[in-house]
Amino acid sequence: MADKKAVVQIDDKSFELPIYSGTAGTDVIDVRALGQQGYFTFDPGFMSTGSCESKITFIDGGKGVLLHRGYPIEQLADKSNYLELCYLLLEGELPNHAQYEDFENTITRHTMVHEKIASFFQGFRVDAHPMAMLCGVVGALSSFYHSDLDINDPEQRKRSAHRLIAKLPTISAMAYKYTVGQPFVYPRNELSYAENFLHMMFSVPAEDYKVSPILAKAMDRIFMLHADHEQNASTSTVRLAGSSGANPYACIAAGVASLWGPAHGGANEACLKMLQQIGSVDRIPEFVKRAKDKDDSFRLMGFGHRVYKNFDPRAKVMRETCHEVLKELNIKDPLLDVAMELERIALEDPYFIEKKLYPNVDFYSGIILKAIGIPTSMFTVIFAMSRTVGWISHWDEMLSEKGHKIGRPRQLYTGYNTRDIKDIDQR
Ligand code: SDX
Repeated sequence: MADKKAVVQIDDKSFELPIYSGTAGTDVIDVRALGQQGYFTFDPGFMSTGSCESKITFIDGGKGVLLHRGYPIEQLADKSNYLELCYLLLEGELPNHAQYEDFENTITRHTMVHEKIASFFQGFRVDAHPMAMLCGVVGALSSFYHSDLDINDPEQRKRSAHRLIAKLPTISAMAYKYTVGQPFVYPRNELSYAENFLHMMFSVPAEDYKVSPILAKAMDRIFMLHADHEQNASTSTVRLAGSSGANPYACIAAGVASLWGPAHGGANEACLKMLQQIGSVDRIPEFVKRAKDKDDSFRLMGFGHRVYKNFDPRAKVMRETCHEVLKELNIKDPLLDVAMELERIALEDPYFIEKKLYPNVDFYSGIILKAIGIPTSMFTVIFAMSRTVGWISHWDEMLSEKGHKIGRPRQLYTGYNTRDIKDIDQR
């Protein structure tokens, strides 16, 4: 129901567009009627465009607020765990004991992948980037679950979601094992989600592997902080792919591809490389100067955000976790000193203050992942497997809407008008 109306006056014509208010956040102007008036909206990068209605996650960029189904990320990180958060994002409410036990059991029993999945890796060069392997193998999952898949059946959509949440850690760990030439490790049903991932990453047949509870807790925290984030580039990619009725496993592969970019999920890998490039606290001013230079393409990776014009609440939790992990593991990582000093300098610098550039989720995650022993090339893979629940929750929400439409944006055309082709000997 429209709360208010926007009046549009074009030449001697005027017409009204309904304005809707959500439960929180910015009001939206419904521009669907513009088409009948002979106009499109124009908003490259969707800086001011709402693509859908959603109940899953809310961000207040000005206040640095992130809510999942209404619960602040700080409370969830402190009191919940990743599988509970997966249930919350998918079902809309936190689970009770029985629901949690059933959900955990369901996810656990989907962690194995078809044996044929292992053969897909053999086609990759050993130096293949793990994100390239994740893109390919997750897309290949669609060949195992397609013929009898009815995405209009809520139960089958839910089962696809369970399979993806369960299998992404297995496939991610396989990508890592392939790069280090070690045998793939099967999941163990007695382990928790995070323990299982570390087990599949680091255990070897030659000796028993004991999962560190400190690392498992840090891993679970990292999964939670990356789980969902409204209509970011990769989630919008999954929604657009899914709007055509495409196979959900193929849609998640599309999300993996979009997340890979250094402006998005690839920033954690790029941020750690940047901290290593800076190397020491005394070189920070040189790089801050470069980041402000319009003629220099260098940017401070892990800083800035399309929505947050205040601290990314995830970065605050990540910073605390970073200190906890390094302290508990008794690791003195000079990169943390560089990161802390870079954060201090940037937050006092007029350029960053004026442009409201704060550390985002990717700024500290790389330091924690490095402390856990995860190689830099696997950082975005960890982001992708954590975000799978967000992607598939939005996919499910979209498909459960009555009369959802295929996404098909329009354009401002500035190319040639109609012209006749000339034979090649006249060109
Ligand atoms: C994620 O959308 C999400 O929710 C994403 C995410 C999620 O959970 O899904 O939160 C995950 O992608 C976090 C962002 C990770 N990316 C990085 O850390 C890469 C570095 N940051 C940027 O490239 C940039 O800040 C973006 C891409 C994140 C946001 O870019 P916008 O909104 O398009 O803004 P912009 O690039 O137009 O920047 C605005 C201004 C520009 O200067 P002017 O042209 O106005 O003079 O700020 C400057 C930029 O040059 N700027 C930076 C900067 N980021 C922006 N200058 C130096 N260093 C930076 N990091």
